[in-house]
Amino acid sequence: MCGIVGYVGERRAAPVILDGLRRLEYRGYDSAGLAVLTGGELRVVRRIGHVAALAAAVPPDLDGTTGIGHTRWATHGGVTEANAHPHLDATNRIALAHNGIIENHSVLRARLEEEGVTFRSETDTEVLVHLVRKFYDGDPEAAVRRALELVQGTFGIAVVFLDHPGLIIAARNGSPLVVGKGNGETFLASDPHALSAHTREVVYLEDRDIVKLDARGWTISRLDGGGVSRGVEVLSEEWAEEGRGDFSHHMLKEIHEQPESLARCLRGRVVPDQGTARLGGLDLSPRDIAGIRHITVLGCGTSFHAGLVGAAAMEGLARIPASAEIASEFRYRNPVIGPDDLFFAISQSGETADTLGAVKEVQVKGGKVLGVVNVVGSSIARTCGHGVYVHSGPEIAVASTKAFTSQVAALLVAALSFARTRVLGPHEGKAFGEELLAVPQRVGEWLSAEPASVMTAVELCTQGKYVFFLGRGVSHAVALEGALKLKEVAYVPCMAYPAAEMKHGPIALIDKNTPVVVVVPDDVMRDKTLSTIQEVRARGARMVVIHTAGDTAAAKLADVSIPVPRASTLISPLFSVLPLQLLAYRAGLALGRDIDRPRNLSKSVTVE
Ligand code: F6R
Repeated sequence: MCGIVGYVGERRAAPVILDGLRRLEYRGYDSAGLAVLTGGELRVVRRIGHVAALAAAVPPDLDGTTGIGHTRWATHGGVTEANAHPHLDATNRIALAHNGIIENHSVLRARLEEEGVTFRSETDTEVLVHLVRKFYDGDPEAAVRRALELVQGTFGIAVVFLDHPGLIIAARNGSPLVVGKGNGETFLASDPHALSAHTREVVYLEDRDIVKLDARGWTISRLDGGGVSRGVEVLSEEWAEEGRGDFSHHMLKEIHEQPESLARCLRGRVVPDQGTARLGGLDLSPRDIAGIRHITVLGCGTSFHAGLVGAAAMEGLARIPASAEIASEFRYRNPVIGPDDLFFAISQSGETADTLGAVKEVQVKGGKVLGVVNVVGSSIARTCGHGVYVHSGPEIAVASTKAFTSQVAALLVAALSFARTRVLGPHEGKAFGEELLAVPQRVGEWLSAEPASVMTAVELCTQGKYVFFLGRGVSHAVALEGALKLKEVAYVPCMAYPAAEMKHGPIALIDKNTPVVVVVPDDVMRDKTLSTIQEVRARGARMVVIHTAGDTAAAKLADVSIPVPRASTLISPLFSVLPLQLLAYRAGLALGRDIDRPRNLSKSVTVE
């Protein structure tokens, strides 16, 4: 979603800002802009489309050393140059970029218009720059503070003033911001990834922090009054690299990184000798674990799908009643939270507004919530305080792949440790732990010998009007994930159902040649799913069957058979999702889609 970059120092600001904006491209955006103080003027350049278009439009004489930049993902107002950020006040002496949503913007706009302000965009953001102007009497920080007092909603903002070269004012409430220290230069960004080429030392702002940045550093204080100091965190090495290597797309690279990302997630956590697992970050004693009455796993999109597998593992393996819920629904249904309930919040980015909102709702009600997060130091990780990092490494493609398998693996590790504490004997624990530890290598072997039938499945699935995905139990979660991937990356309409639900209505949509993808590992539900395949086939559907290698009965029912390695039920999603990730990737490629940055999507959904 929207991104912010700021620079103040001795170098030309524009190239630093453009580099930062490029690093934020993976988050999804539709226009970009920057404002740089140059030659006694505040010069703004904005373009719709990619950062490359903005870079091409930046004049060579834009050589000021203080500036801010922005990538916009349209919410209020269409994708136009006028709506792109930064926005200027009426005197062209203040420029402001904003992430988030100003909920009371129409009231504020009407008031400002009555006072004679003319608006130049349709955005909610523009009210902010006019408010800052209204309260500006020579003190930039005081003006920003007074403007923000009137605002309801979420914001991460960066403001520059022509009267104060060498200064950026920034503030956050619900939209992340980090500041980074260089040598005689200071950086600002909405995502630390934007700063990784320049500095590893960053400070994450908290909600309602306001910060004054100059080339020497920064001063943070609270919007509600009082100073504050925040600790410096060091970004890990792996976040600095972002190339595609020999791969044509980040998505394909990330699919192929799964052997390593899974190994990183499992390393040091599974203890096969004792048939258990250790996750220090959970901060739960065996007594705490023994007392858990219910587990709810919260997440959105792909993370929710991983949560479905996690909940099944908590219940199936650890025998703790468990469910997964979509965070955006959970947070507003006034949930009942008991003292012995435990929550997991899953998020790759750690910034998803709905998941963060659900975390806060659990905390307001006195519940304990643990993060299952990829991005270290992100808002969800910090708000939860405890949890598990999944260690997938940076995921640049908008469609999540390696984060999904690592999220599943992390939850399986947690389930193993809970299971050993509560119900599981050492031998069963050892068998499960050993099977988990063998997954990365087996995933690597499967990926390096990708069956040719994946391509045949692509041909089938790109021909129909829509595609059905079916599975039962954890394979239903995989079906949901496969359908989501194909929608996102190839824009093919898809529906996913628990296989047995077909006969309760959706089967009416099956006609001759409808592509149906079925996930049917060799587990207790296999025979029942094979019956569904027969029913659907009898209506003329064309079947893509993802089945356990060697299951000839399942293969015989398929028009396209895709074998995956044998695994126990709870571990099977780590294999059965692989052909679905590749199906989406190869279908997107065949249809000429923008694979790494599908239309309308954003990597980090920081607004509700
Ligand atoms: C799908 C996808 C999204 C995210 C969802 C939650 O490929 O990436 O569905 O899973 O927006 O994002 P995180 O995990 O960052 O909270």
